[in-house]
Amino acid sequence: MEKIYKNFRILVAEDYEKVSSMAADIIAKQVSSKITSVLGLATGSTPVGAYQDLARLNKLGVVDFEKVTTFNLDEYYPINKKNNQSYDYFMKDNLFNHINIAPGNTFIPNGEAADAAKECLEYESRIESAGGIDLQLLGIGLNGHIGFNEPADIFPQITHHVKLDDSTIKANSRFFDNANDVPKHALTMGVGTIMRSAQILLLISGAGKAEIAQKVIFGDITPKVPGTALQLHRSVTVILDKPAAEKVTPML
Ligand code: PGA
Repeated sequence: MEKIYKNFRILVAEDYEKVSSMAADIIAKQVSSKITSVLGLATGSTPVGAYQDLARLNKLGVVDFEKVTTFNLDEYYPINKKNNQSYDYFMKDNLFNHINIAPGNTFIPNGEAADAAKECLEYESRIESAGGIDLQLLGIGLNGHIGFNEPADIFPQITHHVKLDDSTIKANSRFFDNANDVPKHALTMGVGTIMRSAQILLLISGAGKAEIAQKVIFGDITPKVPGTALQLHRSVTVILDKPAAEKVTPML
């Protein structure tokens, strides 16, 4: 199913596999139409399937990443890049090691930086120098966060250092041996950084995300639910699987 609702193009897919293949197709089309595309990338469980499909398309010669530049949304802070829970490790493991991208063209906020504030400013200007992001891939947190922009009183404008919400630490503890091992801070693009990308591709999967999916698309725009800022972006494609779309479909 495909519907336009305000600024959102909403696609409801049968299941997670279909969400992933549709997302990979959209990203591959972007790269084919502009070989020097600047992609914004995300971590978490949601984009893993899309990354596998992109690696397959790359091996088949359907998409070429040689001249592509990528900027990831966020990274834990502080964290050693060799830690298998760092997003640096995640991106190599799930995507970069499987495609023909130049390692020097992949950017992730540096979780090893001595000066977090300086790293954030430099990251933001690296994005600007690259000409801005053509297509930003996003997941959504159960608390509505995009990147690590946690519920707050304002929408942060640029890449910054954040303290993670207890709910995020709890949600991400599934990847660690225990909740105490989850870093308490992160470096993340701001909501403003995300909003400055030309296009956004938001993936939402699973019944657990049904409520937040409805809030992001139809709820009041508030920094208490950072993803609601996307209602003000000019070009957002949302792909949901049926369980995630349960509360969205009836409102379309
Ligand atoms: P998930 O995380 O894809 O692992 O659900 C999404 C997010 O927290 O942004």
